[in-house]
Amino acid sequence: QVFRLEDYRPSDWLIPRTSLTFRLDPDRTRVVAELTIERRAGVAVSTPLVLDGDGIALLAISVDGVPLEPGSYEATPQQLTIAAPPRARSFRLTIETETAPSANTALMGIYRSGGNYCTQCEAEGFRRITYFLDRPDVLSVYKVRIEARRAEAPLLLANGNPGPAGELADGWHFAEWFDPHPKPSYLFALVAGDLAEVADEFVTMSGRKVRLGIFVEHGKQDRAAYAMEALKRSMRWDEETFGREYDLDVFNIVAVSDFNMGAMENKGLNIFNDKYVLADRETATDADFANIEAIIAHEYFHNWTGNRITCRDWFQLCLKEGLTVFRDHEFSADERSRAVERIADVRTLRAHQFPEDQGPLAHPVRPRRYREINNFYTATVYEKGSEVVGMIRTILGAEDFRRGMDLYFERHDGEAATIEDFVKVFEDVSGRDLSQFSLWYHQAGTPNLMVSAAHDANAATLTLEIEQSVPPTPGESRKKAMHIPLAFGLVGADGNDIACSSVSGATVENGVIHLRKRRHVIRFEGLPERPAISLNRGFSAPVTIAFDQPLQERMLLARNDGDLFSRWQALTGLMSGALIEAAGAIRGRKAAKIAPELSQICLETVRSQALEPAYKALALTLPAEADIAREIGSNIDPDAILSARNLLAGVIATANADSFVSTYESLADTGGYSPDAASAGRRALRNVMLDYVTLATASPDIAARQYRGAGNMTDRAAALSVLTMRHPGSAEATEALADFEARFGNDPLVMDKWFQIQAIAPGDGAVDRVRALMTHPGFSLGNPNRVRSLIGTYTTANQTGFHRIDGAGYELLAEIALSVDPKNPQLSARLATAFRSWRSLEEARRERARATLSRIKAAPALSADLRDIVERTLA
Ligand code: ARG
Ligand code: ZN
Repeated sequence: QVFRLEDYRPSDWLIPRTSLTFRLDPDRTRVVAELTIERRAGVAVSTPLVLDGDGIALLAISVDGVPLEPGSYEATPQQLTIAAPPRARSFRLTIETETAPSANTALMGIYRSGGNYCTQCEAEGFRRITYFLDRPDVLSVYKVRIEARRAEAPLLLANGNPGPAGELADGWHFAEWFDPHPKPSYLFALVAGDLAEVADEFVTMSGRKVRLGIFVEHGKQDRAAYAMEALKRSMRWDEETFGREYDLDVFNIVAVSDFNMGAMENKGLNIFNDKYVLADRETATDADFANIEAIIAHEYFHNWTGNRITCRDWFQLCLKEGLTVFRDHEFSADERSRAVERIADVRTLRAHQFPEDQGPLAHPVRPRRYREINNFYTATVYEKGSEVVGMIRTILGAEDFRRGMDLYFERHDGEAATIEDFVKVFEDVSGRDLSQFSLWYHQAGTPNLMVSAAHDANAATLTLEIEQSVPPTPGESRKKAMHIPLAFGLVGADGNDIACSSVSGATVENGVIHLRKRRHVIRFEGLPERPAISLNRGFSAPVTIAFDQPLQERMLLARNDGDLFSRWQALTGLMSGALIEAAGAIRGRKAAKIAPELSQICLETVRSQALEPAYKALALTLPAEADIAREIGSNIDPDAILSARNLLAGVIATANADSFVSTYESLADTGGYSPDAASAGRRALRNVMLDYVTLATASPDIAARQYRGAGNMTDRAAALSVLTMRHPGSAEATEALADFEARFGNDPLVMDKWFQIQAIAPGDGAVDRVRALMTHPGFSLGNPNRVRSLIGTYTTANQTGFHRIDGAGYELLAEIALSVDPKNPQLSARLATAFRSWRSLEEARRERARATLSRIKAAPALSADLRDIVERTLA
């Protein structure tokens, strides 16, 4: 079944009030739903009532307290139909159903994790709990009563504020929760079990006290301290930055170990993958701490962008996700370093969204059709969706942007809104026409800018010719010209920006060129010397740029660009250029050579007094193999790319060996550990140096020493990773792997790192290594975190290992996807997206990938999720 945006119709029926009673049992949980059903004004009295279900077993049904006659309704697991509902405008429908949380392996609806009950309802999981109008534009006020055996589940949580609680017969007890804010069913949540609480308090800007709770497995309370701090900082930040205050008496977060995604913003009761809550120096890396901060913030920010203002339908998913990602990026930029955050965010966008946009799974930020909505929680909706919001701010300026956001909250609070509503507030506050800009929501594909520049010294003019094009994507062959806000600078020989006297050929405002036509010829006057052109500063638009810029200019920018993002971009661009050339040479069996200036710029960057260590770490990190593959674009040979990357790393390492050793030594942690951004930055740089130093010395000694002396997980994991990458099979690597396993064998979250590090190690041996690791007692195909750390890492971060030329990697993935699919379709579908760039591989691999995809497609009883991905990938 295909769902289409243009088919949207408001619901004939509304459910203003929902009262749920759960009697919890692992195998037979009873759910009584008492729904106040109301016919929407103007809807014919003869209209049938049809509620969504998914695998529902109906036990009893009544209307206004009177059981329905058997012939007067039809109940299938997928649907409840009452052909002739009461003629009254409003009536009470009571439905009793039964479900088995213990048998729920899809992790949607109500399920069991670590002996506790929990729920996940977005997008369409609520219909696995009871029949309902399970669509985001049906908002209801919920009252929830949970009954459970006290011994099994002393803790009973649901959305909203706590109400009465007490004892029942036979060792049972109950708790009631009331959420005064009308919400769609996807935000419903319930947690019951035996968990420890970390409690705190937050006083909002208007002086209201909010009780904060983070619930984790007993004994892990200390590992929730950082998440609690991050939560309080998020709450303060949203007040200060957007004027948004929290609106309930309690805010609870629960960490569970079986979760399909990162976390979920259920009203007042966020449920998290424990990976994004638990952290301390021994068990979590700096990257883990940063992720926790970002995701805690993200889910909290959803309270306004997602919950108070929700989505009219699932086509509008980016309305809440793109905007909330934008907000959490801003938060991290404010809490940490803006330039470093921006570089990291763009790297993520390019690594995840660009390949999506450039392959068979490309779709607009606001899709027009889907078969399985779970497959649209994508980098395009989230990451590109955030970029689009960022561009609105670039176009309007910070002040108008804020006024627009204020208007959005004022105008749409309590509503289920659309992208059109969102764009309109910015048009209204600024008086600008954003209709062309809106194409960013509607048109898929990464725009490309073809740029050429000519300088005329006599006339003192610089002419920039920019031609935009958007490549065809599935279902969209012809594209319209987009409004692209392109920030730029003209950099003089001394590294400072220079001003021109006038510009023509495009609107230029505050350092931003507004491209609106397919082709612009932009003339800058008053420039007797040719400046270096710094384009797309701050990555103001998510585009690719083809610009054959003179090497000298690119090196000037890599050394001096005042915009740190663009300075990083220039260096990374030089590295990519060198890598692409080297990969080509290696494939052609020619000698590859690397220009010495590149090593020199790396050295200057490391030695700079002005740059922060976190920036230096990013600058010295070579583009990933997948980045290089994407830039090459077609006929990819992952082996040649890996060789080129090792070659360049070796050249930079050898040229700068002494300096890198002393930098490595000078950055040693001096005692205390703190996860703050500055300390993390020093560790990041030190660990980048560790890799180079290991290459330069051709010895595992320094990494082995770091491993043994590591006082925190960042340094330990980095050393282990360098050992397994650079000295696989060495005594040092083997010993460190064994030590890690001995230390953390009982801690699945930490063991995920051990699986991950081994999954990345390149080459033909990876397939068998991964197979062997799958039999490790700590591994399980039933837990998404385990599957993602071993299998997901192998298929997405190990280019040579996964794309083994004989197709053994593809076959392994097929086997795993097919065995996971019957239990957890969301997970199998997600795994299968690793095939999305198959068409850009060289021929032998391409044919193997095609064969494997066809084999999956032909398998019996595929889930809708996996079928959708495989069919679109092959199409
Ligand atoms: N809304 C959640 C978040 O981004 C993600 C939930 C996705 N769930 C799903 N079944 N696809 O914060
Ligand atoms: Zn979200």
